[in-house]
Amino acid sequence: MSASVVPTLKSQSLTVEAAANADSIAIGFLKSKENIFTFNTNLSLIAKIEKHFDVNLKDELSFFSATGKAGELFEVPVSDEGSRCERILLVGVGNNSLTDVRLAGASLGRRFRGKESSLFTLVAHTSSEIFAHAVSLVLGNFQWTKKTGNAKVKAPIFYLSDTHAALIERARVVAQAVCRARDLIHTPANIKTPAWMAQQAKSYARNSELVVTVLSGKALSEFGGLQAVGNSSPNPGPRFIQVAYAPRGSKNWPHVVLVGKGITFDTGGISLKRPYDTMIGMKSDMSGAAAILSVVSALPELAPKVRVTALLMCAENALSGTSQRPSDVITHYGGTTVEVINTDAEGRLVLADGLAYADLNLDPDYLVDIATLTGAATLGLGRQYGAMYSRNNALAKKLHDIGETSGDRVWHMPLIDDYSVALHSVVADYNHTADKPKFSAGSVTAALFLEKFVGTRNWVHLDIAGPARSESDAGENPKGGTGFGVRLLIDWISSIK
Ligand code: BES
Ligand code: MN
Ligand code: ZN
Repeated sequence: MSASVVPTLKSQSLTVEAAANADSIAIGFLKSKENIFTFNTNLSLIAKIEKHFDVNLKDELSFFSATGKAGELFEVPVSDEGSRCERILLVGVGNNSLTDVRLAGASLGRRFRGKESSLFTLVAHTSSEIFAHAVSLVLGNFQWTKKTGNAKVKAPIFYLSDTHAALIERARVVAQAVCRARDLIHTPANIKTPAWMAQQAKSYARNSELVVTVLSGKALSEFGGLQAVGNSSPNPGPRFIQVAYAPRGSKNWPHVVLVGKGITFDTGGISLKRPYDTMIGMKSDMSGAAAILSVVSALPELAPKVRVTALLMCAENALSGTSQRPSDVITHYGGTTVEVINTDAEGRLVLADGLAYADLNLDPDYLVDIATLTGAATLGLGRQYGAMYSRNNALAKKLHDIGETSGDRVWHMPLIDDYSVALHSVVADYNHTADKPKFSAGSVTAALFLEKFVGTRNWVHLDIAGPARSESDAGENPKGGTGFGVRLLIDWISSIK
């Protein structure tokens, strides 16, 4: 049930003939401090294209008073009998950093949304630029709609250099995974119940090496957090969804377990969200689960030598007669008891079960959770960076660096032990949130809470409340779910030896 269409990425030889055969040609440009325009790659081919169409593109840039800002776009109409090409698109590449190359790609992708058209692009040169460019073309092109009456939404073809065919194929898989996460996040909560999430996991796993296991009802009796939250919406109730990538011969490969927050809608429960407009975006509270499902679904095609198990902790946090109450004490998977303070801090309750389950049953070499966990993370880092917590500094540095190149950027935050007093409870092993008003550091105390459930594992927590959702249709993101984390986790898993 995907309501978006993914464009095609193709590799193509870089010749004037091939360029002239596409509907449009894209060329990346920079503007120096001295106001000189240059193109960022393929200079000799661009000279031939100018000659072929009898245009001077730098004169055009002066005419348009171009600034060179990443993503800035100008159209130069061209015509030539016998050529299909109708326009050259000049796109600003800022300072030609990977981030700026991505913004240029996204801007071009957006220009061709819903269009059945072909674009030959000369915006990227190095292999990392070509990969970033290819992914961002698809991400900018993303469009989700459930409107009636439209003809089937169309999608363009993007042609990139054929000297990097394998890389472009990999970009297709990665970009498609991000789009899959966006589709899941954009789907409204009246459709995407926890049971629906399980159906999606099963349909992605069909005809692949993935193995899906779903627990519901009585089988969840030991999962106190998932039940306490999810039984607020008894029909159809919470689901524990396990999706495993463990191909034949993988027994001795490193094992990564991913745990994702899958709250299909977060009203806050009895501690109802106020003001109410903060509830509007809460169908995206399953972005962590969407990300890990999309990551694991892409692995059969990417074939890394790493075993990966994704645990989707899916529940709705509703307000009803079966909602949990502030002051309830619940028993998590593995036996730890927790006093519930604020029912709107539901994410950590479902994650605690997943982390404990992974620690006690799955023997992970790496245990990573990803969750739209706290508004505090957004206050601290805004919407362009995810908050990352880990005691393993080398692993955190690696993820930070992969974030910078993949586009899903994360910042290493401190697990401040002084703040663990916030988790002290008189009646249970732990309080689940700070019960003193104005304690602050909400993202840190949430991370400290989760750490109680990871045993001695190599653990990373990603609080993606900020970047999981975009408030506007801008850069690489549509308004709504972004698919944050998919690129980061795929690139990291692919780097593990
Ligand atoms: N899903 C929210 C966090 C969130 C807020 C995600 C804004 C995306 C945008 C989470 O369940 C929540 O409500 N957290 C509370 C925790 C508090 C009650 C301790 C928060 O951040 O206010
Ligand atoms: Mn909440
Ligand atoms: Zn939530």
